[in-house]
Amino acid sequence: MQIPNYEAAKVRSKKEVLIRKFNLDNKYLNLGLNKKFYLKTYGCQMNEHDSENLKGLLHEMNFEEVFDMEQADFILLNTCSIRENAHNKAFGMLGRIKHLKESKPDLVVALCGCMAQEVGVIEEIKKKYRFVNFVFGTHNLDDLPKLLYENLTNKKLNIEVYSMEGDIVEELPVSRDSKYKAYVNIIYGCDKFCTYCIVPYTRGKQRSRKKEDILKEIKSLVHEGYQEVTLLGQNVNAYGKDLYDDYELADLLVEVSETKIPRIRFITSHPWDFSDKLIEVIKEHKNILNYVHLPIQSGSNRILKLMGRRYTKESYKELYDKLRSIENISITTDIIVGFPGETEEDFLDTLDMVNYCKYDSAFTFIYSPRENTPASRLEDNTPLSVKEERLYRLNDLVNKYSKESNLKMLNNIYEVLVEGESTKEGMLFGYTETNKLINFKAHKELIGSIVKVKIIDAKSFSLDGELVE
Ligand code: 5AD
Ligand code: SF4
Repeated sequence: MQIPNYEAAKVRSKKEVLIRKFNLDNKYLNLGLNKKFYLKTYGCQMNEHDSENLKGLLHEMNFEEVFDMEQADFILLNTCSIRENAHNKAFGMLGRIKHLKESKPDLVVALCGCMAQEVGVIEEIKKKYRFVNFVFGTHNLDDLPKLLYENLTNKKLNIEVYSMEGDIVEELPVSRDSKYKAYVNIIYGCDKFCTYCIVPYTRGKQRSRKKEDILKEIKSLVHEGYQEVTLLGQNVNAYGKDLYDDYELADLLVEVSETKIPRIRFITSHPWDFSDKLIEVIKEHKNILNYVHLPIQSGSNRILKLMGRRYTKESYKELYDKLRSIENISITTDIIVGFPGETEEDFLDTLDMVNYCKYDSAFTFIYSPRENTPASRLEDNTPLSVKEERLYRLNDLVNKYSKESNLKMLNNIYEVLVEGESTKEGMLFGYTETNKLINFKAHKELIGSIVKVKIIDAKSFSLDGELVE
């Protein structure tokens, strides 16, 4: 048993981060023989990519994946704690699994991911969900084989969650969801401690992967025929700061660009660390896509300060203007409404910034208090109905600009990476360099290639096009 604790999760130790190579012990190899697993993933791209590693591990142990929970011998929930609704969904799912387990006592159930790192969640599992076989956290994904093995002889609830981040584990097996686009972690954790955010506690201190390991992974993706990589981190712009004296994200991007992978994206950027060098590098390299996700969170300087974001609306605008100098750049953002104490005036400042930035799209959220975060201790008198109304007004404005930016694309031709069959009969779908979703008619054999498409119709969330021969 290893239980999480927030004091340890808050610590940013100066201790050097060790890097080790994963190796699967032979005794785990056949744990999954004739067994089926069902994996449900909640949350961000980081979690989706963790799930690709979890699947890789399970496949190495000879498990087979199923997409119907009722057929599974092993159910694994990879959870998210960013907002309350992600929480509720996972607990709702545990409720359903409880019924299933009553009729299938040999079913093995495990929970991992960000919720596992929360002290309150662990208490709740110990109290109300004792049928769960084991829980592990974000810092020890690679313990999955060991935990499954131990569960063979000890069926009692086992919790193995570390609050202190561990080593960086290289060469974990991976079963990628796509044959054309791949996620590549470049930095783990976050040291920004925005006051509303639980991530610095659930994902630990900022740890960059070594550039050699990243480049090796990307070169092998190029070799396998991948068309696109997304470099992942909670704050990719901090890449290298904990590892090198003079090597940053811009330098890494140049080296990734040289691998000749056709498309490179990177998410998520924090405005604080966005360097001029990075802007120049995006301009100079065709395969570094002109797409930046730049969360603003709020347009009010007072709220930004309370959020601990370390920039003002003026400095955000300055950065934004520089980014707009990149040809055809697409800029998207995240916005929170209803932060504790947000007044109508603060909210109007946010709308002002949306009017200024005219984002290509935005993810918008109602503030959700998270356990143990500084913001959760602030007084919050704004009724939910007011917050909902603000979200509604914000979404109206955001959608107006999304539609406008899509309308500008009408009749122009764009390169699209074709990803698969659309839900619309006979259509395929793919994304432009600026991450716009395009549906168009074409033969299935084009899936996986980059084609030219002319835009013939624009909506708020997608566009229709036709293939250009
Ligand atoms: N409440 C609401 N939204 C949040 N986010 C992070 N923490 C919270 C919270 N407590 C949003 C931020 C972040 C995105 C990933 O989720 O906008 O950029
Ligand atoms: Fe959370 Fe802020 Fe870190 Fe993003 S930068 S993960 S919002 S603490």
